[in-house]
Amino acid sequence: MIYDYLIIGAGVAGLNAARSISRDKKVLIVCKRSPWECNTFFAQGGVASAINDADIPLYAQDTISAGVGTNNLEAVNTLSQNSIRVIDDLVKDGMNFDRNEEGELLFTKEAAHSCSRILHADGDATGRELHMFLLKACKHEIMTDSIVVDLLYEDSICYGAQFIHNGADKIIYAHNTIIASGGVGSIYRYHTNSTTIAGDIQGICVEKGIPLKDMEMMQFHPTVFVDTPHARKTLLTEALRGEGAEIEDEDGYRFLKDYHKDEELAPRDIVSRAIFDYSQKTGSQVYLSFKNFKKKFFQKRFPNIYKNLMELGFDLPFERVPISPAFHYSMGGINVDINSKVKGCKNLYAVGEAACTGVHGANRLASNSLLEGLVFSSLSVQKSQEINFKIDLNKLTFKPRHFELKKQIDKAIKDDLRNLMWVNVGIVRESQKLIDVLDEVSLYLEEDVGRLLFLRLLTAKSIIQSAIDRKESIGAHYIKES
Ligand code: SIN
Repeated sequence: MIYDYLIIGAGVAGLNAARSISRDKKVLIVCKRSPWECNTFFAQGGVASAINDADIPLYAQDTISAGVGTNNLEAVNTLSQNSIRVIDDLVKDGMNFDRNEEGELLFTKEAAHSCSRILHADGDATGRELHMFLLKACKHEIMTDSIVVDLLYEDSICYGAQFIHNGADKIIYAHNTIIASGGVGSIYRYHTNSTTIAGDIQGICVEKGIPLKDMEMMQFHPTVFVDTPHARKTLLTEALRGEGAEIEDEDGYRFLKDYHKDEELAPRDIVSRAIFDYSQKTGSQVYLSFKNFKKKFFQKRFPNIYKNLMELGFDLPFERVPISPAFHYSMGGINVDINSKVKGCKNLYAVGEAACTGVHGANRLASNSLLEGLVFSSLSVQKSQEINFKIDLNKLTFKPRHFELKKQIDKAIKDDLRNLMWVNVGIVRESQKLIDVLDEVSLYLEEDVGRLLFLRLLTAKSIIQSAIDRKESIGAHYIKES
């Protein structure tokens, strides 16, 4: 059987692509484990949107300023111009964003936005609520526990993918394949991502010669509680700062004023770098303080953070929380055009964090990722329907290989890789260290490792190589002169 669409990933981008495809099409959505093991589920802050027509150019301008002017302007305009329509459509279909007592949508402020334009749901669980809404709306088949090990890609055509599903090899053929598998979080030691997100598909792209772009552009979220045994560290949403939380050192000094006039609300790359620099210089622990909040308001506005941090031993808003930047989002990804069609490919699309439209430039504006997933996923479906490409299996020469997903040697290499990436390809980079770490990763690629680690190493190599190639500091890519 040939599916009309194979969608790899069940976060906002994958599920919204599925939502845009009518029930009469044969669609299969696959995800590595359960559908909620994705970054969307854990997104806290919200969904950015222009608040009215007059705000569309201002929102675009904020996105460009945060991205240090390196954004693809067509992509930025597409995001901004489609935002109101996409949100209206979700609300009409029953998505419950938070509202005030008069029933009007509530918008909050986050860093580098010139006005309050972030929608949220259940206070600080916007991703979870949106994900549940999209899952409920999903009228197509979802296959869980399906790990993609290869794309069936020949002569610029994607015929589908090879999986390991519940331990068995499986091939799915499709006329259109949409990659919505997320970014690269697990490649870094400290990150806020679902543990399923590890850059596997980007690694397959490297192997197949499918183009990646801006892979050096890795975003580090400034306010993360990292002192937990879990691989996914505890995010403290930017909306906390939007509503009055402050960053301070051990003595309560708000050092961000020494780095940027907008202090807590400066763009994310600047705040992360300031925290990194200040703690290196002074040795001081950095904290997020909630002293401007009343307890009742805090509990209502941030119910999940209140509860989760309580479980970790913090009495919010009375106690401050030690924070560190941690990897959060990959601006780089599979190189796609404005309709999210992979450049040079006939029927392959990439949407959401897996893709690089260039919309974020060198630094993503807060809360632009859920909207990106919504806007570009629906455009990818529209485009694929216009093109209406059909694969011809007689032309496919692909012979599946059996892959071992994991080998005994992997654990030590994986841990070392996460450390190497964090230390050398993190918030502040040095040219010689990048060259050295590229050699180390290349040596690891010569080892007999499992398929998943091999793909992760390929993706890491492409991040490092891109970081070496970009000589000047810009946005999230900061090279320290040595
Ligand atoms: C956050 O809630 O701070 C994260 C939102 C985002 O990644 O844009």
